[in-house]
Amino acid sequence: MSEFSGQVAVITGAAGAIGAATTRLLAAQGAAVALLDLPASRADDIAGEIVAQGGRARAIPTDVQQESAVAAAVAQVAAELGPPTLLVTVAAINITGAVETLRVEDWDSMMAVNVRGVFLPIKHIVPHMQAAGGGAIVNMCSVSAFVGSSGGAPYHTTRGAVLSLTRSLAQELAPQHIRINAVCPGWVATPFTDAYINSQPDPAALRAYASGLHALNRMATPQEVAEAVRWLLSPLAGFCTGSEIFVDGGFMIKR
Ligand SMILES: NC(=O)c1ccc[n+]([C@@H]2O[C@H](COP(=O)([O-])OP(=O)(O)OC[C@H]3O[C@@H](n4cnc5c(N)ncnc54)[C@H](O)[C@@H]3O)[C@@H](O)[C@H]2O)c1
Repeated sequence: MSEFSGQVAVITGAAGAIGAATTRLLAAQGAAVALLDLPASRADDIAGEIVAQGGRARAIPTDVQQESAVAAAVAQVAAELGPPTLLVTVAAINITGAVETLRVEDWDSMMAVNVRGVFLPIKHIVPHMQAAGGGAIVNMCSVSAFVGSSGGAPYHTTRGAVLSLTRSLAQELAPQHIRINAVCPGWVATPFTDAYINSQPDPAALRAYASGLHALNRMATPQEVAEAVRWLLSPLAGFCTGSEIFVDGGFMIKR
């Protein structure tokens, strides 16, 4: 029997690099997976691929900022796949800018997607976990919760907020056997990271600099990040709650 067979997992941002790697891994371990991502995303293709391999998957177009959309998506998951007892929140955006020119609309979007969009799936899935007698949640966070960067204040602020949310809810939900932890990657080699690096004046120099920020002198793969999520969701991590795991190649020890 596979690690998560009989369980239903919801993954937000499931069509992104880390979300897709996590979704595929949980499905390979027997979970029925619900892929919550924006309508224009590749979530349908990934769900189709999992179903073709004999798994159970549904792509449910959802904007995680919208409470009505999240509530409807969770109700659909419960009706079509079963009550969810695993949740991974990965959906996030990044808008950068100097503090004096940053638009309030952009600040608010960052908070709406990256913080409210983590709170809402938890709010609507926890009742299913309570009814089932327990569950496990992983919030995708970042080393950015611990360090700052010029122009990156909105993103760093949202990652710090997610870490604090994780710690508070771990206390609140522990009596109901619901564990909640965070995974903090350093730089991850994804198409988005590549596009950003290639858009800069000296991509080769930036790539070398970014790799060198990590003691292991490279970026993580999405699969390496997904493996930490898998472990935290599993009973092997049964005594972990309110904690964070760094999948950062030694980024933090170089600070
Ligand atoms: N890529 C990195 O280097 C890196 C490093 C550290 C932490 N992280 C964390 O990993 C997570 C995702 O990273 P990624 O590299 O996979 O990014 P990505 O851009 O590939 O994926 C993000 C996904 O979220 C979805 N999304 C965005 N807004 C949404 C909304 N309103 N509703 C629903 N879905 C929405 C996007 O469509 C996309 O599929 C983030 O939480 C980020 O903080 C990434």
